[in-house]
Amino acid sequence: MRKLLPALYHSDREGRLSPETRVIAMSRGGLTDADFRGKVDAEVRDQVPMDDPDLWQRFLGRLHHVSVDVGGADKSGWGALTRLLAGYEQRDRIFYLASPPRTFGPFCRELDEAGLVTPRSRVVLEKPLGHDLPSAQRINDEVGAIFDERQIFRIDHYLGKETVQNLLVLRFANAFLEPIWNSLWIDHVQITAAETVGTPGRRGYYDHAGALRDMVQNHLLQLLTLTAMEPPARNDREAIRDEKVKVLQALRPITGTEVARFTVRGQYTEADEMPGYLDEPGSTPPTEASQRVETFTAIRAEIKNWRWAGVPFYLRTGKRMPYRRSEIVVQFKDVPHSIFPGGSPNRLVLRLQPEEGIELHIMAKEPGAGEVTLKPVPLSLNFGKTFTARVPEAYERLLMDVLAGNPTLFMRRDEVEAAWRWIDPILSAWEASADLPEPYPAGTTGPAGAHELLGRSGRAWHEEEA
Ligand code: BG6
Repeated sequence: MRKLLPALYHSDREGRLSPETRVIAMSRGGLTDADFRGKVDAEVRDQVPMDDPDLWQRFLGRLHHVSVDVGGADKSGWGALTRLLAGYEQRDRIFYLASPPRTFGPFCRELDEAGLVTPRSRVVLEKPLGHDLPSAQRINDEVGAIFDERQIFRIDHYLGKETVQNLLVLRFANAFLEPIWNSLWIDHVQITAAETVGTPGRRGYYDHAGALRDMVQNHLLQLLTLTAMEPPARNDREAIRDEKVKVLQALRPITGTEVARFTVRGQYTEADEMPGYLDEPGSTPPTEASQRVETFTAIRAEIKNWRWAGVPFYLRTGKRMPYRRSEIVVQFKDVPHSIFPGGSPNRLVLRLQPEEGIELHIMAKEPGAGEVTLKPVPLSLNFGKTFTARVPEAYERLLMDVLAGNPTLFMRRDEVEAAWRWIDPILSAWEASADLPEPYPAGTTGPAGAHELLGRSGRAWHEEEA
């Protein structure tokens, strides 16, 4: 209701859905088409432009609902779906699974048993893909038994964000960056995804996920690979994903006692009328797992290859931080010899949120006679202001890519598994540790350990007023 249907409506409005396109929602809900359309009308209407009521009615007319109980004894739902799809065998079929990952395998099997998988079918898997490497491999095997890899689209909505795609254009369609995009010129990289929201109503999921699985294994590592990858030979699905996998495979494992040195985990506590994680309203009371789960994590990663040896990549994400901001900050080295007092190293900031844009922080002279005073000033590009076209939501772009059969911005099996391979030892060390996550008051930038992680080497997080 919040992401997919608004994205589909925008695509419909802009003429990107064929007249025959149908959207069939499947749940155990027992809704009729009319019930479902009424629900969408009530929940989605306010999120989308409503300048053309006829268009909205036409969109509602595309929607259907069938009740299917995956793994249940009653198979009648599959019959209803088969009847709805009869006559459309030669059309593209997209099965979008936004259900818990343990249902992915059974769903695909039942779909196949019902004879609904055609050569023109594709399946979209929402993250999280498993909770560790073995579970991810199992899911990949189960889904892979029914669909070919080329039919499987593992979605990570960060890859649909405009700035993320612009990162590739910035790096590979401009000549000036490539010569300095390496350890000779770059001191370190910071990748942050800070959110102001907490986890109300999500304890059931979040207790077993935590920030590392929920954000780092997928979104942050994806940003890292795109920042660090080698130039691909072509802008094509395999060439780009091949380069991304190489970065994941070059990540230096963080294991054993290093985990305590190079990773930080935190959990927010009550402050300024915001509840702590353990007091968030939820359908289930907090358990021991709730006490141990991290709502914040910071990690010092390293990529062991020629380009990046010795350049730390600091990753950080947290709930209930003071601002909502996702960004990649590339900090260059300081000038080799300074003739002016003050000054600070250049920074290139690629902002994904709240406003998508790129800023290059350079040193400038503050106007005035007398002593030269340096001041960092941004050269900035704000996509919303520079381009008048509407910036599509990440899901919109990605859904259209699925319809077009283009998996470039989706994670390949080996990518997901390489990411888990790096994450698993960190998870195991945390699980084996008697320590709880470090508390941080809601509305702050995370626990003290996160600042020490950079402070130890004389660095600091790129904080500026929102
Ligand atoms: C999701 C996570 O994948 O990404 C959520 O499950 C998180 O916990 C969300 O809030 C963040 O997405 P965005 O686009 O708002 O940064």
